[in-house]
Amino acid sequence: MSETSATNEQFDLVVVSNRLPVDRIVDADGSAAWTRSPGGLVTALEPVMHAHGGAWVGWPGMPDVEVEPFDEGGIRLVPVPLSADDIEQYYEGFSNDTLWPLYHDVIASPRYHREWWDAYKSVNQRFTDAVAEVASEGAVVWVHDYQLQLVPKLLREARPDLTIGFFNHIPFPPYGIFSQLPWRTRIVEGLLGADVIGFQRQADAVNFQQAVRRLKGYPTRRGHIEVPVVDETPGVRVYGPIKPTGPIRTVVAREFPISIDASIYDELARRPDIQERARQLRADLGDPRVIIFGVDRLDYTKGIGHRIKAFGELVADGEVTVGDVVLVQVASPSRERVVPYMELRDEVELMVGRLNGDYSTIGHSPIAYYHQSFPREEMTAFYLAADVMLVTALRDGMNLVAKEYVASRFDDDGVLILSEFAGASDELTRAILVNPHDIEELKRAILRAMELPKRERKSRMRQLRKRVFDNDVAKWSNEFLEELAKARAAAND
Ligand code: G6P
Repeated sequence: MSETSATNEQFDLVVVSNRLPVDRIVDADGSAAWTRSPGGLVTALEPVMHAHGGAWVGWPGMPDVEVEPFDEGGIRLVPVPLSADDIEQYYEGFSNDTLWPLYHDVIASPRYHREWWDAYKSVNQRFTDAVAEVASEGAVVWVHDYQLQLVPKLLREARPDLTIGFFNHIPFPPYGIFSQLPWRTRIVEGLLGADVIGFQRQADAVNFQQAVRRLKGYPTRRGHIEVPVVDETPGVRVYGPIKPTGPIRTVVAREFPISIDASIYDELARRPDIQERARQLRADLGDPRVIIFGVDRLDYTKGIGHRIKAFGELVADGEVTVGDVVLVQVASPSRERVVPYMELRDEVELMVGRLNGDYSTIGHSPIAYYHQSFPREEMTAFYLAADVMLVTALRDGMNLVAKEYVASRFDDDGVLILSEFAGASDELTRAILVNPHDIEELKRAILRAMELPKRERKSRMRQLRKRVFDNDVAKWSNEFLEELAKARAAAND
């Protein structure tokens, strides 16, 4: 990949996310190169950037990497360096040990530390400065996710000429949970700096509007929020509704469910070498009659323990036979220095080890477990080999794995079991929907999926595929950018 230095240029579309869509890797001989970094966000946005051209501002994924902006795959990448302290306090701390558990229904306990909040503020300011430098006069800036919620307001103050969008990839919690956050008012004010605030589900947008009413008293009506141009009470909670006296601007806050580039998975799955790989995987697993598949970042929101428990009980009760059925669980390493993630790894691996220890035969194990990441080609082969796909998230903004599985099944076969707590369940209603907390229901769903007649599998999968192909990532980004264009036109009126 080229590393041409390119400074001082400005762009009409700037995307900003915590992570750049690349990671820097250093070989044993000391030479450095860039590789794609994991995560749904990167997968989702890559085609948009290729189509529109533009700059992407973000962290290169390692401490203290100071590199000039460079071009990769037709996108200008603008690295924002983070020190080891920033990573500990802003990324691992406030983003992933405060906001992440809070926004996912406190499945784990959020930790509130004032030093982490200070780091979050100062890193958000640095991202803002980097954007302000590369955005051309009147540019559109699209800010992504919970790590950067203060950027919209900071950017509006620095560059009132910009049109600013924000998209929240994770859930936005009900006010009763959000209100725990000591800095809740600052976060809401930060987001309200945007012209358009996008959420995954309507329920998330409604939760946000409620937080706005409860904390700032601004009127909200059908996804439109009236915000005073000058906030007379910054940082202060306002009790009761207020009637803004000065000029107001309208902020749109509504759902834009994200998706994937479905054609990529469809095309990969149709490749003979990937199909051969799928056959090989099945053979390597000992040619079981049924492969059940789960793939997730190793995160406590994903309900990995719940699915292993349900499957383990089926094995223990003799309702599934080892060798006849196998659960393949890929758990890709994630946020490995954050305590609840370390604990989760121990829990999951203890469960896998116990189940396999108790029930493996010579040659067959109930679970094939991989604490690894795989390239997209290998994932697609797994999707093709998977008779049943298990998505049991306890809370998930969207869950793109569910959509990737559907997009890969060009043969209209395979059964998706999907948690109703994943945003994808709003659209993928022809999956077998489950409450993953209900272990009995989960067990019944697994048994039902394994025995579903071919006709019903096909009819369900056809309808699922229609949803995923009709609402792909291009449609998502176009709709968001169109809403932003409307906001810009209204502001210029
Ligand atoms: C989720 C978040 C993204 C994040 C990704 C990977 O999908 O919404 O913002 O990039 O997880 O997590 P990581 O902490 O490795 O960036």
